[in-house]
Amino acid sequence: MSTYNENAKPKVTTSRLLEMKRRGEKIACLTAYDYTMATLVDGAGIDLILVGDSASNVMLGNATTLPITLDEMIMFARGVVRGVKRALVVVDLPFGTYQGNSKLALASAIRVMKESGAEGVKIEGGAEIRESIERILAAGIPVCGHLGLTPQSINKFGTYGVRAKEEAEAERLINDARMLDELGVFAIVLEKIPSALAARVAREVSVPVIGIGAGHDVDGQILVTQDMLGMNRGFKPKFLRHYAELGELITDSLGRYVDDVKSVDFPSDTECY
Ligand code: KIV
Repeated sequence: MSTYNENAKPKVTTSRLLEMKRRGEKIACLTAYDYTMATLVDGAGIDLILVGDSASNVMLGNATTLPITLDEMIMFARGVVRGVKRALVVVDLPFGTYQGNSKLALASAIRVMKESGAEGVKIEGGAEIRESIERILAAGIPVCGHLGLTPQSINKFGTYGVRAKEEAEAERLINDARMLDELGVFAIVLEKIPSALAARVAREVSVPVIGIGAGHDVDGQILVTQDMLGMNRGFKPKFLRHYAELGELITDSLGRYVDDVKSVDFPSDTECY
């Protein structure tokens, strides 16, 4: 059982995450896409809540993250922000809202900040989106980078396999991480890369490195909440730990409700006015 007391801890800020890295305190991050889940995730003491574009898969049933729109991301983010008291809330800029056009990138980031009340944005990529990152940062909007497996580029990669196993790609990733650090991002997500490479990046950059499938020698971890709660039953990659089997629990509970309604066991006399 968690010993977390929500009244005892102040709001998490980007500088607080940096202090955590400096003193070696690991940063616990999860996703949320709606008010109810955000209250639960925040209440558990999670430091950073990401309104990830994985909402495209998890909430909208798409096969990839590409179809989700900025309007949809903002709607999900609004609910999350209303449910959060302590965690830092960061929102993914979706595919097509920042690549190749830094003015569009800034306009997208401003919409997220103004319309959802979130505290930062995350964008995928390195040198190729440098101008977009610079422009968003110049407007005073905190940016989280994302390197390694970047799902918005799935059509370029062709698979969701481990990235940067070859030296050339690993070198590129290290250079991109250094560049993000120098530009002033507040954190970098590393997805599905060899642990030794992730550890090297975490040692070399000044900002927190948050891993997903990137081993334990990084500054924090992030998972998709529905995945770690076992709600997405067919999905169990090597990096994922199930902390519950909520998929089974929910289906079982709903089945019992169906039985009770059919047999008129529900509602009982005590559940009637
Ligand atoms: O969209 C998302 O949920 C993410 C995390 C998996 C890092 O980007």
